[in-house]
Amino acid sequence: MKLFSSVNDVQDVPALVAEALRLKQDPFAYKQLGLNKTISLVFLNPSLRTRMSTQKAAMNLGMNVIVLNIDKEGWALELRDGVVMNGTTVEHIREAAAVMGEYSDIIGVRSFPGLKDRDEDYSEAIFNKFVEFCKVPVVSLESATRHPLQSLADLVTIEELKTTSRPKVVLTWAPHIKPLPQAVPNSFAEWMCRADVDFVIAHPAGYELSQEFTSGATITHDQNEALKDADFIYVKNWSAYEPYGNVLPGNEDWMLTNDKLGIAPNAKVMHCLPVRRDLELSSEILDGPRSVVIHEAGNRVWAAQAVLKKILESN
Ligand code: CP
Repeated sequence: MKLFSSVNDVQDVPALVAEALRLKQDPFAYKQLGLNKTISLVFLNPSLRTRMSTQKAAMNLGMNVIVLNIDKEGWALELRDGVVMNGTTVEHIREAAAVMGEYSDIIGVRSFPGLKDRDEDYSEAIFNKFVEFCKVPVVSLESATRHPLQSLADLVTIEELKTTSRPKVVLTWAPHIKPLPQAVPNSFAEWMCRADVDFVIAHPAGYELSQEFTSGATITHDQNEALKDADFIYVKNWSAYEPYGNVLPGNEDWMLTNDKLGIAPNAKVMHCLPVRRDLELSSEILDGPRSVVIHEAGNRVWAAQAVLKKILESN
């Protein structure tokens, strides 16, 4: 594996999930694999889980880790081609990514969308420039349209906690005050459509995701109907795909509460975090026995470790 940017980069998804669960049982079994290898984790945007879990995963494999918050600590990057750099940008991404590649055996990149220009965001221009210019394997730490390490951890969590062979998994939209990217729901949908689950997406009218990611899912505007007998409920806000990046008025009643969970008595509740309490998801659920959000965040380590192991073994 030279690139981990989406589920499409994975040949055998169940095998990768099984690998993550094996590594969870024996985290240091491959401590020699990454010896004297360096991973650089490059953040253009904030992170807690992705940063710490990927660093821990790399250390479990014996790797050296460089973390660069390039938005705060690096030179101001020029991302466009063909411009005279007589403004505020100091270094072009062509040189910056190439130089990082000189210091790294693997590079992880986090780059959020601007949520202004859909074509630009959905072309993954920034992430793809890193891939093009750094010349070493690249792992997405969340790009404009996908968050594959999160989705793999989510699938690992479902595999680990399921009590039926083909669980019902519901992705339900949640309210928020700010426009958030579609990366997590796109990616979750894409991975669930490849998994052996009954997958349902529920959202208010106007929050349709791109069909590129949802093919095979059941999609409804009726949250109660969707939640019925769910085994896993994945709560997430996202802004509109059309008009792009908009927050539509209303829909506050989509926040999941214990009352709503009555319709799904066995459901476990997931969220990628960070979560805004009592806006996006109720405290009573987060603090109660149905929430598996901390367990899910813990599995980020094993998802990242499985991916890094695969890359180290094949390069
Ligand atoms: N879920 C997730 O990616 O968390 P961070 O943004 O804190 O990395």
